[in-house]
Amino acid sequence: MSTCDIGLIGLAVMGENLVLNMESRGFRVAVYNRTTSVVEAFEKGRGNGKNFVFAKSLADFVGALKRPRRAQIMVKAGAPVDAVIEQLIPLMEPGDVIIDGGNSLWTDTQRREKALKEKGIHFFGVGVSGGEEGALKGPSIMPGGSKEGWESLAPIYTKIAAVVDGSPCCRHMGPDGAGHYVKMAHNGIEYGDMQLICEAYAILKAAINPTAEEFAQIFTDWNKGELDSFLIEITSKIFTRKDPETGKPIVDLILDKAGQKGTGKWTVGHAVEMGVPLSVIGSAVEARILSSIKEQRVFASSILKGPAAKPFTGDRAKLIEAVRDALYASKITSYAQGMVQLGAASELYNWNLNFEDIASIWRGGCIIRARFLNRITEAYKKDPTLKNLMLDPFFAEVLNRTQSNWRIAVTSAVENGVAVPGFSSALAYFDSYRSANLPANLLQAQRDFFGAHTYERTDKPAGEKFHYDWLS
Ligand code: 6PG
Repeated sequence: MSTCDIGLIGLAVMGENLVLNMESRGFRVAVYNRTTSVVEAFEKGRGNGKNFVFAKSLADFVGALKRPRRAQIMVKAGAPVDAVIEQLIPLMEPGDVIIDGGNSLWTDTQRREKALKEKGIHFFGVGVSGGEEGALKGPSIMPGGSKEGWESLAPIYTKIAAVVDGSPCCRHMGPDGAGHYVKMAHNGIEYGDMQLICEAYAILKAAINPTAEEFAQIFTDWNKGELDSFLIEITSKIFTRKDPETGKPIVDLILDKAGQKGTGKWTVGHAVEMGVPLSVIGSAVEARILSSIKEQRVFASSILKGPAAKPFTGDRAKLIEAVRDALYASKITSYAQGMVQLGAASELYNWNLNFEDIASIWRGGCIIRARFLNRITEAYKKDPTLKNLMLDPFFAEVLNRTQSNWRIAVTSAVENGVAVPGFSSALAYFDSYRSANLPANLLQAQRDFFGAHTYERTDKPAGEKFHYDWLS
């Protein structure tokens, strides 16, 4: 009866592809969905003839699992996850493992882990990245939960994950919410990467207006170098696709209103709460919000004027090169910020996150997979306590080398009235971080002036507070 290595509840796109992946690696999997017709359709369709138990009730589902039982939930984040857990609890035993593989809020995972621990059940919050194809062929997996629970899950997850240089893109991230937090940070970084690519496109479009074919070529070329990544690759492909109805490039017909499901906002919100600058991802979230108020923008465009259009007189190839460098430098900055956030969260929750592991498992399977993650892995391998990725000798050299082109790209955008919040906020972070002196002396004076908030002096020991009698 109890023959299955693992079970999965929720046969939507990700769930269905994950179980097919598990089955293809030799595991026997129980599947269950609240709507029985979904299980029946899977039984007749993609699951037909394969090593599954198609459970029609939750009791049958749990009954089909080997002990200690491993039951993975793949339903919409939020209340539906709690509802499934509630139904599972009376059917499970101490030592069993319940896994939530969705994009859940890490604090929900912490709460659920705590509640289930009291019943002796291990609860795992597992980030799974890679979309439909990744789920089927090998995603990047970010599990968070107890060491004992991990021992029971590791043989399955390390076998279904993507593999880079012989190593699976799956490591135990840490206890309770660590896996879901790392997945959330991954999504934030994904937002940043996507926004930066869009800004590169916008700068070039405004300055030299390449055709879709030319854009496809530019991104194909970029994908051969330092920027080699999944997102650059799909961007080059996007420019080659035509609308069957009109024959025009499909990208030119897509409405410029971006959607979002919330993980980017969570990332930025928590960074702000911890006092960590996360300007690139913050810009990306805001850019999506601004894009979504299309009607207001259309109206505003008739009232608020940008600079007069000027014909491009420079060297096209040089501008493309400058934008490429700006994209790379901004991307490095965004990852630097993201890793600082992970460090702060690790300290806050005592997670003891391993940044080498994190960068390493993002090298394959996930949406942000990229060649340069090898360099980030190396940077943290060399120095696990690295304060900021920009200080690693390899990345410092890249930033110092590319910064003049970075400024050229941002200047081109500013001159043409093109918003590049990602590029410019990254540059501002770089310029702030590398400045021994900032104008905060004046800010402190202002605070002391209106609120007697006091200040420290450059010529006195640190920590000593002064107040100036501004009104006399
Ligand atoms: C992944 C993706 C996936 C999804 C995000 C972002 O890693 O496979 O990150 O989880 O793309 O939820 O979605 P939105 O852009 O809709 O917020």
